[in-house]
Amino acid sequence: MYEKITGAAEYIKSKLEKTPEIGIILGSGLQPLAEEIKEPVIINYKDVPNMPFASAPGHIARFVCGEIEGKQVICMQGRLHGYEGHQPEDIVFPVRVMKFLGVKTLILTNAAGGINTDYSVGDFMMITDHINFTGKSPLTGKNDDRIGPRFHDMTFTYTPALQEIARKASHKTDIKLHEGVYIGVNGPQFETPAEIRAFRTLGADAVGMSTVFEAIEAAHCSINVLGISMITNMAAGIIMKELSGSEVNETADNRSQTFRKLVKAIIAEIS
Ligand code: HPA
Repeated sequence: MYEKITGAAEYIKSKLEKTPEIGIILGSGLQPLAEEIKEPVIINYKDVPNMPFASAPGHIARFVCGEIEGKQVICMQGRLHGYEGHQPEDIVFPVRVMKFLGVKTLILTNAAGGINTDYSVGDFMMITDHINFTGKSPLTGKNDDRIGPRFHDMTFTYTPALQEIARKASHKTDIKLHEGVYIGVNGPQFETPAEIRAFRTLGADAVGMSTVFEAIEAAHCSINVLGISMITNMAAGIIMKELSGSEVNETADNRSQTFRKLVKAIIAEIS
């Protein structure tokens, strides 16, 4: 595994003039954020050695590297999900590659269903903590101490200093940012209303099908994490309305500009 990671990192490095400091993983419908990157260098996943990706036709599957707000970023346009059949350790492969590229900060974004009834469709939530409800971990199996320790702490996974930066950016841009707990499920089916009631009892504010594995690996290999969810729909049964993937994409499209503004303001503040 170690050689696979460093092999992929070496390939990406060979294409870049500058070292990326910030990694960004874009959630469903949030991919246009990559348009903010100046003088982008595009690296398709299929060209990166050992990169686990079975790309569906028409699906964006690439790294976009370059500058946002004076910072060097590497952005994943197209993330890997468990529901596509990817194994947890494959899903975090690019996070490990980012570590070996020198990335210090990872911004995880996602589309999520709102469980907290104070939230509305189109709102943003900063993830202060998560519940991994997938029943799986990307760290199952033999540990490689060159990547991170066998048992690692998860207390400060969502880095307090980055949360403070996001609060400031929210204030500065006047874009409301809730703070809450994200519960990660496997999907691809949306939840039942009974599951959502159970998740609320467990303390979750929003639900989605990504992010938790990437955050676990970032904590494992000591990368600071900021998580931002876009509430693209209210979760099942919160309002008695059927859920659909098209509603998720529609909200993401409508709120895309605001999302870009918020993330840019955050990146501007990261030192
Ligand atoms: N549930 C799970 N994942 C999601 C949702 C949801 O309601 N909305 C966007 N991603």
